[in-house]
Amino acid sequence: MLSQLRVERTSVSRWSQVDWGSLGFGGVYADHMFTLEYRDNAWGNPQIRPYGPVPMAPGVASLHYGQTVFEGLKAFRGVDGVIRLFRPDANARRLAESCQRLCMPPLPDGWFEAAIEALVAVDQAWIPCGAGESLYIRPLMIGIEEHLEVRPSREFLFVIMTAPARIYFKNEGQGVALQVQEHYTRAAPGGTGFAKTAGNYAASLLPGQCSNAAGYDQALWLDGVEHRYIEEVGQMNIFFRFADTVVTPPLRGTILPGVTRDSILTLLAEQGIACEQRLLSIDEVTAGIESGLVREAFGAGTASVVAPIGRIGYQGRDYRIGNGGTGELTAQLFNQLTALQYGETPDSHGWIRQMAVTEASPVD
Ligand code: COI
Repeated sequence: MLSQLRVERTSVSRWSQVDWGSLGFGGVYADHMFTLEYRDNAWGNPQIRPYGPVPMAPGVASLHYGQTVFEGLKAFRGVDGVIRLFRPDANARRLAESCQRLCMPPLPDGWFEAAIEALVAVDQAWIPCGAGESLYIRPLMIGIEEHLEVRPSREFLFVIMTAPARIYFKNEGQGVALQVQEHYTRAAPGGTGFAKTAGNYAASLLPGQCSNAAGYDQALWLDGVEHRYIEEVGQMNIFFRFADTVVTPPLRGTILPGVTRDSILTLLAEQGIACEQRLLSIDEVTAGIESGLVREAFGAGTASVVAPIGRIGYQGRDYRIGNGGTGELTAQLFNQLTALQYGETPDSHGWIRQMAVTEASPVD
């Protein structure tokens, strides 16, 4: 497994140029990247090398037709100094499913996790240690064959880059504001909605801009057929707490099967909190908010962890959820997940992959 891995370390680290006191999300990359190439029906030439441009002709098909998939996961520096990856096996499985939908070759078993561990080991000094901070890991696969026919590429590049980051949404007391998207559609049955592929995100850019211009953080997607049922938020799955029951949209091919979503379902079940995965109409949500039945709502995703939703705009009206801030269950789930990720509570689920620490942490 990755036995041919070549490692070329940078001669000049960019670590000291980073403003570690004000990390954003994905604006700065660590020193190295992992690359792997697919040619003649086989993956090969694994390398860890300095992060930088990958030469590519403008004629490669993925730039034209969007044959790309990506993933997102995190490495954490625990309170005990130990480095932990959260559920990399789940991301490996989802990558394989995205690849299948996009006609891309899956990685050989175990290579995804091995590559991530090797890269994070080399750049472990880049794992930040502030509250809510982590090393965000972004694996990406793209077709790199030069051709303009609309058909799958026969050559691919798999790259993993990492970025020290804070949680996606700054939670400054206010929950995220969502605007229901009443016109545009993110995904339709039979489409690529469940795959982590660029086109889904490209489709969300204009609606996202419209929501921002109207004073909201994000668009909230409805189903593409009736524009009636809640689906997801651009980069998060969504959960609503109706009295003592949590409701989240089901996986039926149009929303991302989030690893955080899955983890939350497990945590809820373990605590005996009822959770329904079912169709949930926007009318049921707005009526529930008005009657007080909807006590809280939150988004769940790797980048955003568990993000409180403060208000929802729909048909020109604003529906404020609870006090607009962080609900009790939202805070509880956030704390439970992050306690596992930072090693504050033992992992009874087999979700954590611990890594050896071989370099001093940045604060040592
Ligand atoms: C993640 O949560 O890892 C994502 O992929 C969201 C990203 C598009 C910001």
